[in-house]
Amino acid sequence: MSHFTTLQSLLSGMTAALDLSDGRTSFHYERTAYLSYRIAEECGLTAKECRRALYRSLMIGAAEYLKECSYTARNLHENAVYLKDIGKTMRQLLPRTWQEPGGPAQDAAELHPTLKSAAKFIPKPFLLDGIIALARKLEPEIRYGEPALKQGEQACRTVIESGRLSRELRVVTERLAKRDLVWMDLALGKELLGTLIGKELSLNLDEAVSLSQLIALIIDFRSPFTRMHSAGVAASAVSLAELLGMSAEEQKKMAIAGNLHDLGKLRVPASIIEKNGKLTEEEFALVKEHPYFTYQILKRIEGFGEIAEWAGWHHEKMNGKGYPFGLPERELPLGTRIMSAADVFSALTEERPYRKALPKEKVLDILRENVEAGSLSRGITELLSANYEKIDSARREASSAAGKRYLQAGMKQSETS
Ligand SMILES: [Fe+2]
Ligand SMILES: [Fe+2]
Repeated sequence: MSHFTTLQSLLSGMTAALDLSDGRTSFHYERTAYLSYRIAEECGLTAKECRRALYRSLMIGAAEYLKECSYTARNLHENAVYLKDIGKTMRQLLPRTWQEPGGPAQDAAELHPTLKSAAKFIPKPFLLDGIIALARKLEPEIRYGEPALKQGEQACRTVIESGRLSRELRVVTERLAKRDLVWMDLALGKELLGTLIGKELSLNLDEAVSLSQLIALIIDFRSPFTRMHSAGVAASAVSLAELLGMSAEEQKKMAIAGNLHDLGKLRVPASIIEKNGKLTEEEFALVKEHPYFTYQILKRIEGFGEIAEWAGWHHEKMNGKGYPFGLPERELPLGTRIMSAADVFSALTEERPYRKALPKEKVLDILRENVEAGSLSRGITELLSANYEKIDSARREASSAAGKRYLQAGMKQSETS
């Protein structure tokens, strides 16, 4: 299958989204992945192994992010077990061709318990974990306001003085401190991974769909209430696209858009998503920002022009009163109209902190109300009503697969389910 986008481009989007979380703007995940690569270089690893350190660091970052949403580990071992379950689930979503030895996904998310024990003793097979552990220790020590060339020296000194590095990694850290380019790259903090991965790792559309599922898992698994949401939206949207005669290629793009439509929600703390009650004005303002960030992040990914519009405009309305752009009806493409309907439909059929999942009649009533109020497209909503069972069964199938993954990853359960 032919080139659709590049891994580098998609990963930059993923790290940008992770770095949105809880209002963080520090590029922590991206910088840690970058440092992992540079440390691997200092350890004398090949370019391929250095890239592996980078992918692994990103996967661990994502797994850890999810873990923080769900668990409080009592000790290092528990921490590693949790991460392993999440990592395994995430890995299953990576494109199959990547699972080969030396491929980007090889043991990408199997975390050895040494990771947290601060790289004290790193026998060869666990060298990558030692490298990543060091990167994770170094990154938070960097004081980005100071001159770049001082930052590295200081951060490396602090970590070395903590006395918790193996002799080998201490030597590596000392050498790294003198690599000015690394610290200037980090201070700039932009497009860090692009220079390292290179543009050569091409993704076809199917691989991009797989990766979008993986990212959806990060978006959805932060809360038991949204654990199936993106999967459900994607399946409903694909089903509608098929009924409307969209091509196989467009349907795959629709799947990606559905999986990523709530990407910007990573900015919204899980406590707000799970709130049982009315949101404060400030909380609501934060929630309202999410499609804007979805759009801005996706727009920058190579090949994602249409996907960004379908996904990022899902809260636009037919009467022009939607958000974030308030676009008029004539500017809303078919894919966007499908996505808006699929989003409302899926949300109504899912349980929420303040209500149970709604039955068919109620769902149809609310969809109709949305049409009358000028929010949703009449044509798409009528198509949905006329093919309710077909679309709902596609949605249910995808949701139940997502629900199984949620359990496999050992995430927390909702109080009402
Ligand atoms: Fe949304
Ligand atoms: Fe949504």
